[in-house]
Amino acid sequence: MTRVLVVAVDGPAAAGKGTLARRLSERLGLRRLDSGAIYRAAAARLLESGGDPADEARAAAAARALAPRDLERDGLRDRRIERAASELAAHPAVRAALLAFQRDYAATPPGAVIDGRDIGTVVCPEADVKLYVTASPEARARRRRDELLARGDAADLAAVAAEIAERDRRDTERACSPLRRAADAVPLDTTALDADETFRAALDIVRERLNAAGKATIQTPASARGPEGFRLAPVRGPGEISSGSHGERRRRFRGIDLETE
Ligand code: DC
Repeated sequence: MTRVLVVAVDGPAAAGKGTLARRLSERLGLRRLDSGAIYRAAAARLLESGGDPADEARAAAAARALAPRDLERDGLRDRRIERAASELAAHPAVRAALLAFQRDYAATPPGAVIDGRDIGTVVCPEADVKLYVTASPEARARRRRDELLARGDAADLAAVAAEIAERDRRDTERACSPLRRAADAVPLDTTALDADETFRAALDIVRERLNAAGKATIQTPASARGPEGFRLAPVRGPGEISSGSHGERRRRFRGIDLETE
């Protein structure tokens, strides 16, 4: 059986998960799935057909009818769709309809970085690395407001903060797969970090977790590290440890080479 590497990135809205997941996936040579986009796409389909996100049967039908091209729809980040996604995501039948797709995605080599709310707890409880990304409500509201302004949306900070608080409440209080930190997820508070600092901190956590799993045991000299620490690049061939092309020893985890920048 081909083994894969899975990194779960969970946390509340506007904590910086999306940017982090994209950068991690690029660096690790893994695929990336924005699981929120699946819920948003289901919500977009539902609203388009005149459905109500409170109607579980219709919401589940919209989720079952999802096709990959739905994830590329325009307007998935609209606030109306965001709100509907959070509402529709509370239905067990909707979550059940979307589970197999997410698990298949994670199981496809070489593996994936998946961000969402329940990746480390429900979708991929066996993920190799779990990050729980948070930031203060104020920092998250400011970031979301700036994002909205940057794309030309009128955005009042108090209104954005209220919307985020409402989504937090729905995402954490729903009975089915609520947002919560998995016991083995590493918390990463990004309140005082910019995107680069968040990425570097996350890469350090990935490296530590893989080391702790005992799969990658050779430490590369600190002097050889670049500003972002380790680069994880896919390599061919089995085995945990091998000699690099210049004779140096390399750290390897499931076919992914942990080497310096
Ligand atoms: O991550 P996001 O803001 O794009 O997610 C939109 C909504 O989808 C979010 O409010 C709750 C839901 N969601 C979920 O319930 N589970 C996930 N794994 C991802 C998103």
